[in-house]
Amino acid sequence: MSTAKRYTITAALPYTNGPIHIGHLAGVYVPADIYARYKRLTGHDVAFICGSDEHGVPITIKAKKEGVTPQDIVDKYHAIIKQSFEDFGITFDNYSRTSAKIHHDTASEFFKTLYDKNEFVEEVREQLYDADAKQFLADRFVVGTCPKCGNEESYGDQCENCGTSHNATDLINPKSAITGNAPSLKETKHWYLPLNKHEEFLKEWILKGHEKDWKPNVYGQVKSWITDGLRPRAVTRDLDWGIPVPVEGGEGKVLYVWFDAPIGYISATKEWAARENKDWEPYWKNKDTKLVHFIGKDNIVFHCIIFPSMLKAEGSYILPDNVPANEFLNLEGNKLSTSKNWAVWLPEYLQDFPDKQDVLRYALTANAPETKDNDFTWKDFQARNNNELVAIFGNFINRVAVLTNKYYDGIVPEPNTLTTVDEETLAAIKAYPSVISSSLERYRFREASQELMNLARLGNKYLADEEPWKVIKVDEARTQTIMYVALQIASALATLSEPFLPFTSAKLKTILNTEENSWEDISTKTVLLPAGHQLGKSELLFSKIEDSEIQIQLDKLEASKKANEAANKVVEPQKDTIAFEDFTKLDIRVGTILEAEKMPKTKKLLVLKVDTGIDTRTIVSGIAESFKPEDIIGKKVTVLVNLAPRKLRGVESQGMILMTETPEGKLVFVNPDDTNVSNGLHIS
Ligand code: 2FM
Ligand code: ZN
Repeated sequence: MSTAKRYTITAALPYTNGPIHIGHLAGVYVPADIYARYKRLTGHDVAFICGSDEHGVPITIKAKKEGVTPQDIVDKYHAIIKQSFEDFGITFDNYSRTSAKIHHDTASEFFKTLYDKNEFVEEVREQLYDADAKQFLADRFVVGTCPKCGNEESYGDQCENCGTSHNATDLINPKSAITGNAPSLKETKHWYLPLNKHEEFLKEWILKGHEKDWKPNVYGQVKSWITDGLRPRAVTRDLDWGIPVPVEGGEGKVLYVWFDAPIGYISATKEWAARENKDWEPYWKNKDTKLVHFIGKDNIVFHCIIFPSMLKAEGSYILPDNVPANEFLNLEGNKLSTSKNWAVWLPEYLQDFPDKQDVLRYALTANAPETKDNDFTWKDFQARNNNELVAIFGNFINRVAVLTNKYYDGIVPEPNTLTTVDEETLAAIKAYPSVISSSLERYRFREASQELMNLARLGNKYLADEEPWKVIKVDEARTQTIMYVALQIASALATLSEPFLPFTSAKLKTILNTEENSWEDISTKTVLLPAGHQLGKSELLFSKIEDSEIQIQLDKLEASKKANEAANKVVEPQKDTIAFEDFTKLDIRVGTILEAEKMPKTKKLLVLKVDTGIDTRTIVSGIAESFKPEDIIGKKVTVLVNLAPRKLRGVESQGMILMTETPEGKLVFVNPDDTNVSNGLHIS
């Protein structure tokens, strides 16, 4: 177990161009918060740092689209995101923003230091340029085919499909995201961080030094990067939104967002320290401090290769001790997507489940994408709540509180002789802090959350086996002991649940009327809740989630899917023009369906008998997936009657029913609304 006293814990600065969703919470912020709370509870000095990442091209693109300034966009979403973090109990010591002056100053200074130390390579190179927009195309301003995996929608700086990070000029068939034009090349000067120069150090520090303690997904990605060979990366851009390049020749240019954003961790620490009257430097420069970056897997290269190379080049900073990146969370089998609205947004979740922050924290932790991408389903969410939080944790606490109130007016009873089971149970409680710690120290949050639930299971089983509600009728002294032991478990749960279920832990402390025990106390103290202690007011910790509530969420997703399908529907181009004479050759009439049955052994075909006004004829129509035969008998339809007969599966079709599609893709008849219209009526 680690012995460091001081921890600088960072969580990826979210881009400020939209609210955050469950993927962000599961991948970064919930594990980071569990870790920070746990470190505080175990007596460490913690700076838990985050803030809004307010530069970068996506913000400018969004501002352009909405006809507002980039500052308007970041002001709006900074407030929304900050609120979501507060609502979900994410205990940042500071949530700053990269548009803050302290950050502009810190990042400028950092750049100048590297510049003065000759750590950059200055080069004039050809870059992609959109002549119509009069703008260089960096990062997300350009889309093209990824040279590594062939994804046709890779961005200029990174491919979201394979995670490769590249230079915009590496893209095959690049296109401007502003005008759609194929860009030209134009010369411009930039500053490059020569990552190749840091290759040896990175090999030594990560490949040799962290093979054992970094997660395999992180280590593996870094290794393949280094093995592929590192190249200089431009750390400036020709843009007008960002931190101005603070050296001669930098006019009209800004720092690359991935150069300034990680420095945001440092500026946010400075801002916090100033507010708290502390010295910020030990949190970044003292060798005994552990620096831990919580991020998603698309950020690995920036936190394990680029930022450490910057810190190393600067020279006075410590390097991360660990970068426990998570994989991605999917939602109901599909990739989370902002543009497709395939997400559970935190503000919306809270509207639907106003008091269930801990339920989401728990469901996301128990099912966290720690070693591979994982799927969030609403059914699993419901099951985690109903079968674990309600049926195990909540049920145990409720029984303890109700029985203590009923038998002893809410006062912890004096224990009598302890049986072997009692002693084993009390000993088992003492083991939990180190069991949970051991998982948390290895960044195994799922495992840790399950251990916590095991402690609640232990409590439930103890009560079920000892049955105080029966014993009370025959043995008062024994009942006191049972309730005393159960109350010790409840007290341990109040402390150990705090990192995972902070709202529940606070409620439980109110129910037990105690705040006293630290993490360590659970294993060292013999008595956690002394006899004679008066409990507080009882309340239910969790409540059941009904199927109907889950259905509402599933319906919302279904609506998103439909809206997307409709939005993405490709409109077929118009066919070649035909002469009026050609049109008049079509004999289109109103008919009535008299009979309908499925064509055997086919999925799509219905065999219809249609009264066309001229005759009754057979028409085979490919509409069986949209209509049941019995539902369409008697329907007026529009029929092309002079189409040359054609055999389909051995049945001659003597015409064609005209159909159209609704925006949702449903087939409908082209039919005259008025059912009194006579059959055979010509349509012209
Ligand atoms: O991927 C993202 O959302 C980035 N905004 C993360 C930045 S992390 C950091 F380095 F600031
Ligand atoms: Zn790719």
